[in-house]
Amino acid sequence: MGHCSASASIQLVSLIILSGILSLETIKFGFCSDDHNVRCIDIERKALLKLKQGLTDPFDRLSSWVGEDCCKWSGVGCNNITGRVNKLDLRNRNDYSFGFGGEINPSLLVLKDLDYLNLSMNSVGGVFPSFIGSLKKLKYLDLSGLSFVGVIPPNLGNLSRLLYLDLSHENLETDLQWLATLSSLKYLNLGGVNLTKTTSYWLPAVNLLPSLVELYLPYCSLPMLPLTLPSINFTSLSVLDLSGNEFTSTIPHWLFNLTKLEKLDFSVNSLTGKLPDSLGYLKSLRYLHLSYNSLEGSIPKSLWELSSLVSLHISHNKWECAITEAHFVKLRGLKEVSIGNYPPNISLVFNVSSDWIPPFKLRYLEIISYQLGPKFPTWLRNQTELTTVVLRNAGISGTIPNWFLQLDLQLDELNFADNQLSGRVPNSLRFSHYSIVDLSSNLYEGPLPLWSSNITDLYLRDNLFSGPIPHNIGQVMPNLIYLDISTNSLSGSIPLFLGNLSQLQYILISNNLLSGEIPPFWNNIQSLGWIDLSNNSLSGTIPRSLGSLTLLRFLDLFSNNFSGEVPSLKNCTYLNILDLGDNKFSGPIPASIGESMSSLQILSLRSNSFTGSIPLKLCGLPALRILDFSHNNLSGNIPHCIGNLSDLKSESTDEGNLGRLGRFEFVSKGKVFVYDHLYILNLVTSIDLSDNKLSGEIPMGLTSLIKLGTLNLSMNHLTGNIPANIGNLESIETLDLSMNKLSGSIPQSMVNLTFLNHLNMSYKVMGTSQPKSPNTLNNTHCAKIKRRDT
Ligand SMILES: *[C@@H]1O[C@H](CO)[C@@H](O)[C@H](O)[C@H]1NC(C)=O
Ligand SMILES: *[C@@H]1O[C@H](CO)[C@@H](O)[C@H](O)[C@H]1NC(C)=O
Ligand SMILES: *[C@@H]1O[C@H](CO)[C@@H](O)[C@H](O)[C@H]1NC(C)=O
Ligand SMILES: *[C@@H]1O[C@H](CO)[C@@H](O)[C@H](O)[C@H]1NC(C)=O
Ligand SMILES: *[C@@H]1O[C@H](CO)[C@@H](O)[C@H](O)[C@H]1NC(C)=O
Ligand SMILES: *[C@@H]1O[C@H](CO)[C@@H](O)[C@H](O)[C@H]1NC(C)=O
Ligand SMILES: *[C@@H]1O[C@H](CO)[C@@H](O)[C@H](O)[C@H]1NC(C)=O
Ligand SMILES: *[C@@H]1O[C@H](CO)[C@@H](O)[C@H](O)[C@H]1NC(C)=O
Ligand SMILES: *[C@@H]1O[C@H](CO)[C@@H](O)[C@H](O)[C@H]1NC(C)=O
Ligand SMILES: *[C@@H]1O[C@H](CO)[C@@H](O)[C@H](O)[C@H]1NC(C)=O
Ligand SMILES: *[C@@H]1O[C@H](CO)[C@@H](O)[C@H](O)[C@H]1NC(C)=O
Ligand SMILES: *[C@@H]1O[C@H](CO)[C@@H](O)[C@H](O)[C@H]1NC(C)=O
Repeated sequence: MGHCSASASIQLVSLIILSGILSLETIKFGFCSDDHNVRCIDIERKALLKLKQGLTDPFDRLSSWVGEDCCKWSGVGCNNITGRVNKLDLRNRNDYSFGFGGEINPSLLVLKDLDYLNLSMNSVGGVFPSFIGSLKKLKYLDLSGLSFVGVIPPNLGNLSRLLYLDLSHENLETDLQWLATLSSLKYLNLGGVNLTKTTSYWLPAVNLLPSLVELYLPYCSLPMLPLTLPSINFTSLSVLDLSGNEFTSTIPHWLFNLTKLEKLDFSVNSLTGKLPDSLGYLKSLRYLHLSYNSLEGSIPKSLWELSSLVSLHISHNKWECAITEAHFVKLRGLKEVSIGNYPPNISLVFNVSSDWIPPFKLRYLEIISYQLGPKFPTWLRNQTELTTVVLRNAGISGTIPNWFLQLDLQLDELNFADNQLSGRVPNSLRFSHYSIVDLSSNLYEGPLPLWSSNITDLYLRDNLFSGPIPHNIGQVMPNLIYLDISTNSLSGSIPLFLGNLSQLQYILISNNLLSGEIPPFWNNIQSLGWIDLSNNSLSGTIPRSLGSLTLLRFLDLFSNNFSGEVPSLKNCTYLNILDLGDNKFSGPIPASIGESMSSLQILSLRSNSFTGSIPLKLCGLPALRILDFSHNNLSGNIPHCIGNLSDLKSESTDEGNLGRLGRFEFVSKGKVFVYDHLYILNLVTSIDLSDNKLSGEIPMGLTSLIKLGTLNLSMNHLTGNIPANIGNLESIETLDLSMNKLSGSIPQSMVNLTFLNHLNMSYKVMGTSQPKSPNTLNNTHCAKIKRRDT
C-alpha cells in the first residue's frame, strides 16, 4: 500500500484542481497513501517557519525543518490528498530540558486544516494564546505540561469538533462555561487547572458531554462534589479521576449509575462517611482508588464481589472492620492492594490462617495499621511477583524469615516501619533502580546495613543500630537522596566518604552518639536541603563549606559541642529553619543571618556564648515566627525595629511551609516541646531573649506583634515601664518579664490579653541576691488576669 507510482498522485492533484466538487471519500479510494508525493503548500511552509522562529530549541529538534516539502519535516503531517498540514506533533518525550521554549506564533492559524496538535511537555509559556480557539478543525489538542498561566480563553468552546483535550499541569484557571459546546469530547484532562470558581457547576458542565469516556480533574481545587444530579448524561464514562480535590461530603449516589466505569479515583480528598453497598453496581471496575480520605465504618460486602478488580487502594481511611481471607476469594486478578488506616488504629485485625494461599499474585502490597502479626505473614510465600512490600505498623515481631529472602524478589519499595522486628537486617535483598527502604521504628541491632547502589531513600531511624557509620557508604550507595539514620546508637565520627553521596538532599543523623569534627565535604553535596545533626557529641568549628549549600532549607545542629564563630551563611538564602542552640558557639551573631534569608521562619541560637548586640538586620526577616536567643551573653538594647517582623504582626493566614520531617525543640510555658512533625510549628510564634545582658527599655514596637504567642524577656537588665499598650499582643499565651529592673505599674491594657495562661512578672533583679524593688508592679492585677483565663 505504501508504495505507489508518481502518476497516480499527479492524477490525484489534477483531479482536485479540476473538480472541487468530488468528495474526498471517493477520490481517496485506490490512491496512494504515501505523503511524500503530495507537496506542502507554500504559505503553510512559511507559517511553520515562523512558528519555528518563535520557539527556542536547545536540542535542535527542528533541524529537519528545512527545504521545500514541509510535509516531510519531523512532527508535521499532511493530508495525503490536499497536501495541507493537518497534524503537528511536537511533543517532548524526554525530560523538560529537551523541550521547546519561547512562544507559539499566531502563524499557526494559517494551518486551517490542522486537526491534531500535540505540544505536551515543552517549556512554552506566557499567557494562554487565545488564537488556539480559532483552529476550528482541531480534534486532538494536547497542551499538557506547558507553562501557560492565566485564564483558559472561553473561545476554546468554538472547537466543536474536539474529541480530545488535555490542558493538565499548567498554572491555569477557568470557569468551564465554554465546555458546553464541545459535545463530541471523549477525553478531557484538566488536571491541576484551578477550578475553584466553578463551585458546584463543574458537574453539570461535564454532564453536558454525552460522549465523554475519560474525565480527569485531579488536583483542580474543586471545592465541592454535588450530591444530586437530576439526570445523568455522561453514562459512557469509563475513567473518572477526581483525586486531590477538596471534597468533604459522602460519596454521591449518581456515581453508581456510571455502570461502565473501569477506573474510579477519589484518593486524596476528605470524603467522610460510609462507602455505600451500591458500589456493587460498578461491576466493570478494575481500578478503585479511595486512599487518603476519611471513609469510616466497614468496607461494604459488595466491594469484595468486584471480580474484575486489578488495583484496590483504600488505605489512609478510618475503617473499623477486620479483614479476613474470605474477602479475597473472588479477587483473583488483583495485582495491587493497599489497605489501612490513618491515624493508626492497630485494634483492627487482618485475620488469615497461616496456611492461606491467596487466589492472586500481587505486584504491589501495602498494609498499614492492621494487626497482621506477631508472626511474619506466611501467605506471602506464594507472592513471587511482588515489587512493593509495605507492611507498616502491622504488629509484626521477630525476624524476617529465610523463605521471604528466598523469594528472590526484586523490590522497588520495602517498608516494614513501625513493627517490632529484631535481630540483624538481612543483606541479601535485591532492589530495582530508585528504590525505597524503610525499616524505621523497629528493634534492629548490629551495624548499619548497606545495600545496593539502586537505593535512593534509606530510612533506618529509631532502631538499635550501633557502631560507626560505615566509611564505604558513599561507594556502596552513591545514589542516596534521602538518608535518615537518626535515633540509633551510632558512634564514632562522620566519615569523610559520606561526601561521596553527591545526590543527597536529606541527611538526618540526629540522636546518636557521634563525636569528632564534621568533615569539610559539603562542597561536594550541593543538592543538600536538609541537615539534622542535633543531639550528638560533635565538636570543633563549622566548616566554611557548609555555607556553600545554596539549596539548604533546614540546618539543625542543636545540642552538640560545636564552638568558635559561625561561618557566613549568606548564600543559604532558602533557609527556613536554623537551629544552632545548645552548643559552645561564641563571637557576634553572624550578620549574614539577617541579610538574605527571606524564608527564615525559625532561628534559634539559644544556650551558646554569643556576645555583642542583636543585629538590626534581623528585623527585616519577613517570615520569622520563632526567634530564640536565650541564654547567651548578648548586650545592648532590644532593637526598636523588632516590631517590623512582618510575619508576627500581619493578619496573614499563611500557615508557613515547613516540611514534614525533622525535629525541633522549643521552650514555652516553662516546658521543652519536641516537635517531630514540623508542620505543627507553623502554629507557634515566639520571641525568647531571656538570660542575656540586654539593657534599656522594652521597645514600644514589640507591642505591634499581634500574632506573638510567647514573649520571654526575663533575666536581663531591662529598665523603664512596661509599654502601656502591651494589651495589643492579643495572641499572647506566655509572657515573662521577670528578673529585670522594670518600674511603674502594670498597664491597664493587660486585661485584654485573653489568651494569656502563663504570666511571670516577679521583679527580682537578676544577678543580685538582694531583691531590689524600685518598681510598683501591681500583682493584684496579675491575679485577676490569671483568673479570667481558668
Ligand atoms: C490518507 O490518510 C488517511 C488518514 O490519514 C487514511 O485513512 C487513508 O487511508 C489515506 N488514503 C490513502 C488513499 O491511503
Ligand atoms: C501527546 O503526547 C504525549 C506524550 O508526550 C502523549 O502521552 C499523548 O497521548 C499525546 N496526545 C495525543 C492526543 O496523542
Ligand atoms: C468564538 O468564541 C467566542 C467566545 O466564546 C465567541 O464570542 C465567538 O463568537 C466565537 N466565534 C465563532 C466564529 O464562533
Ligand atoms: C485557585 O484560585 C483561587 C482564586 O480564584 C485562589 O484563591 C486559590 O489559592 C487557587 N488555588 C490554588 C491551589 O492555586
Ligand atoms: C445532556 O446532553 C445534551 C447534549 O449535550 C444536552 O442537550 C442536555 O441538556 C444534557 N442533559 C443534562 C441533564 O445535562
Ligand atoms: C440511576 O439509576 C436508577 C436505576 O437504575 C434510576 O432509577 C435513577 O433515576 C438513575 N439516576 C440518575 C440520576 O440518572
Ligand atoms: C479503632 O477501631 C476500633 C474497632 O473498630 C474502634 O472501636 C475504635 O474506635 C477505633 N479507634 C480509633 C482511635 O479510631
Ligand atoms: C505456595 O507455596 C508453597 C510453599 O512454598 C508451595 O508448596 C505451594 O505449592 C504453593 N502454592 C501455589 C498455589 O503456588
Ligand atoms: C539495579 O536495578 C536494575 C533494574 O532496575 C537491575 O537490573 C540491576 O541489577 C540492579 N542493580 C543492583 C546492584 O541491584
Ligand atoms: C557564596 O557565593 C559567592 C558567589 O557565588 C561565592 O563567591 C562565595 O564563595 C560563596 N560563599 C561560600 C561560603 O560558599
Ligand atoms: C481592650 O480592647 C478593646 C477593643 O480592642 C479596646 O477598645 C480597649 O480600649 C482595650 N482596653 C484597654 C484597657 O486597653
Ligand atoms: C492595683 O491595681 C488595681 C486595678 O488597677 C487598683 O484598684 C489597686 O489600687 C492597685 N493596687 C496597688 C497596690 O497599686
